[in-house]
Amino acid sequence: MTGPVQRSVIEGTGSALPETRVTNDELARRLDTSDSWIRERTGICERRIAAAGETTADLAVAAGARALAAAGAGPDDIDLVLVATATPARTFPATAATVQGRLGIRAGSAFDIAAVCSGFVYALAVADSLLRTGQARRALVIGAETFSRIIDWEDRTTAVLFGDGAGAAVVGLAEGRGDLSDRGILAARLRADGRHDMLLHVDGGAGSTGTVGHVRMAGREVFRHAVTNLAGVTHELLDGLGLTAADIDWIVPHQANLRIIEATAQRIGVPMERVVVTVDRHANTSAASVPLALDSAIRDGRIRPGQLLLVEAMGGGFTWGAAVVRL
Ligand code: UT7
Repeated sequence: MTGPVQRSVIEGTGSALPETRVTNDELARRLDTSDSWIRERTGICERRIAAAGETTADLAVAAGARALAAAGAGPDDIDLVLVATATPARTFPATAATVQGRLGIRAGSAFDIAAVCSGFVYALAVADSLLRTGQARRALVIGAETFSRIIDWEDRTTAVLFGDGAGAAVVGLAEGRGDLSDRGILAARLRADGRHDMLLHVDGGAGSTGTVGHVRMAGREVFRHAVTNLAGVTHELLDGLGLTAADIDWIVPHQANLRIIEATAQRIGVPMERVVVTVDRHANTSAASVPLALDSAIRDGRIRPGQLLLVEAMGGGFTWGAAVVRL
């Protein structure tokens, strides 16, 4: 049975990157690493690093303003601001509140989502729920990070992997027919498995050391879980909708490592020609990576209106999730 339903539709996207590019060769001057190791193991060529004093909120505001412009929306059109981040400038208030204030948004609510690299997928699913239950009319959903602030720059096993940036989407409501031809979020699935909360974590915080701490990761373990979890949740999602990999026009994956992206796409059954890759230029920007990739591919004309997208991400927690969205 199908009939008219409310769908949460992506109306516009935007992104922001710090100006400073740091190449692998530059990192190799201060760490025992090399451009060839980083490229071969991760696909990363360079990353952007925030300037002194440039915060996650600054990047989120810039990305949010661009998404509003792309959607043809103004601050009065938004009544929900969600910021997915693990690197807020301050422990509180939420970065979303700061962003709301700076963008001149006055209605509704604003809060942060803490799901690390899966944060944007989590935020998209939360926005979808709040919109379709009538608690908001139009959301600004942002993933923004300055991971450079929580990197141990002496640790080559993590320092080469991350970068800073932000991506955003304006999500509004539109009536659909209730079938798979509808625009908007057709389904989303979120998962967590807290047994693994030490495999990818930060070794500090306001409530323990009183410092921000540094990223620590059991890379090989995380890699293995990432491919299994992402392929698993995607299969569940597609099966639930009655779709196959052939129906997906683009995978917009979390950009942690090109090898994870390739292995996951292979398990899902989508060729790399239909996978958006930005990890080479952005490295892993955690919650910002999916919306940064989405915005890049929309602006360069690869992703077009009406196409069916699979967004997926996995991160610390572990948390992971995926959504099927028709643009
Ligand atoms: O955002 C979601 C979470 N993050 C991820 O999904 C990342 C998941 N993990 C990964 O992407 C990969 O595991 C890494 C890129 C972190 C590491 O790649 P790997 O192929 O799993 O390498 P490894 O950890 O098994 O290390 C291989 C070797 C080791 O040396 P030995 O023990 O074989 O002598 C490391 O010490 O590479 C060494 N190594 C490095 N060498 C040069 C580790 N980091 C570096 C480095 N430069 N930066």
